[in-house]
Amino acid sequence: MKTKNKKIQKIVFEIFKKNKLSSKHAKIATDAIINAELVGAYGHGLSRLKMYCDRIKKKLINPRPNIKIKKISQSISHVDANNSIGFVAADIAIKIAIKNAKKTGIGMVAVKNSGHYGLSGYYAEQAVKKNLITMIYTSAPPAVAPFGALKSLFGTNPICFGTPTGSKIPFILDTSISMINRGKIRVAARNNLKIPKDVALDKFGKPTTDAKKALEGVQLPIAGFRGSGLAWMVDILSGVLTGGNHAGKVKDPFDDFSGPQNIGHLFITFKTNLFVNNFNKRIKDNIRTIKRLPKIKGIKEIMYPGQNKYKRLKMNSKKDINITEIIKKDLEILKN
Ligand SMILES: NC(=O)c1ccc[n+]([C@@H]2O[C@H](COP(=O)([O-])OP(=O)(O)OC[C@H]3O[C@@H](n4cnc5c(N)ncnc54)[C@H](O)[C@@H]3O)[C@@H](O)[C@H]2O)c1
Repeated sequence: MKTKNKKIQKIVFEIFKKNKLSSKHAKIATDAIINAELVGAYGHGLSRLKMYCDRIKKKLINPRPNIKIKKISQSISHVDANNSIGFVAADIAIKIAIKNAKKTGIGMVAVKNSGHYGLSGYYAEQAVKKNLITMIYTSAPPAVAPFGALKSLFGTNPICFGTPTGSKIPFILDTSISMINRGKIRVAARNNLKIPKDVALDKFGKPTTDAKKALEGVQLPIAGFRGSGLAWMVDILSGVLTGGNHAGKVKDPFDDFSGPQNIGHLFITFKTNLFVNNFNKRIKDNIRTIKRLPKIKGIKEIMYPGQNKYKRLKMNSKKDINITEIIKKDLEILKN
């Protein structure tokens, strides 16, 4: 990865190596964490490094996993990640999904016994770069109450869809089904910052802007029962279907050290020319039409999903990653 941040990259790599990851796996994990920082997804970047190391020390993440890949057909594979760090399982799975799609038109890879893998969009980009459309799902620990329930059960279960656009900026819709990403609440809680209104309730069911109270309470899904339905869909696709934990059994990586997370993921990739032979032209027309719509006041450009993150990545790659005091302390502990 081209970044100005070689020094921090090396520190993270060495920390993973010290925690017994192979050089190959340490590089995969480091690149994913640095990428999260560069796209501005701080809740999935350096703020999680100590958590991964704590889980490795407690033997809940296996630094030297024996990952098994079962080929079900030319298109379909099932990965048992043997409690690897999630980044490694996801990296293997997306690469197989890409290979299968290139060979047969469609690739589908389910993963079980994995852990938190960071940003779905990071893996979607790999498929889109190979000119494939992709859909990616992962489950996450309980954070969001199912519509009508008093208790959190669904994770923030991101839904990710990526497609080539005929231009160098990919279309990547990568969104949690919660009003706000849990990682952002965790970062706010660690830094004593407030969270926006209407994104969470405290443990008594009252709206709160206090990040710590929100973590004890429930997060609200996007769009009421619709968001709750989408979260449920992800729970089924990445949990029930894959052999991963589901129905609220994914353990919180920060607070629950009673066992591995056994997160499941699902990666689907397919060629753009399955039904038409001029996809590139059609997608360009599609995007152009939407971008030319009259804009509401204050909006300069109608962006497609992924454009904002692409711009941020370009801009941030030229700058130093901001290391907060809390992360500085984590790094000092982890280095020694
Ligand atoms: N591994 C996990 O357990 C887990 C759980 C939850 C979230 N995540 C990850 O966290 C990341 C952040 O999730 P999020 O929900 O906070 O994302 P977000 O709210 O930052 O963005 C959601 C989507 O909206 C698009 N978008 C944002 N502003 C836009 C605009 N002005 N015009 C058009 N599109 C726009 C983004 O490109 C993105 O595709 C994702 O990468 C997700 O995969 C991971």
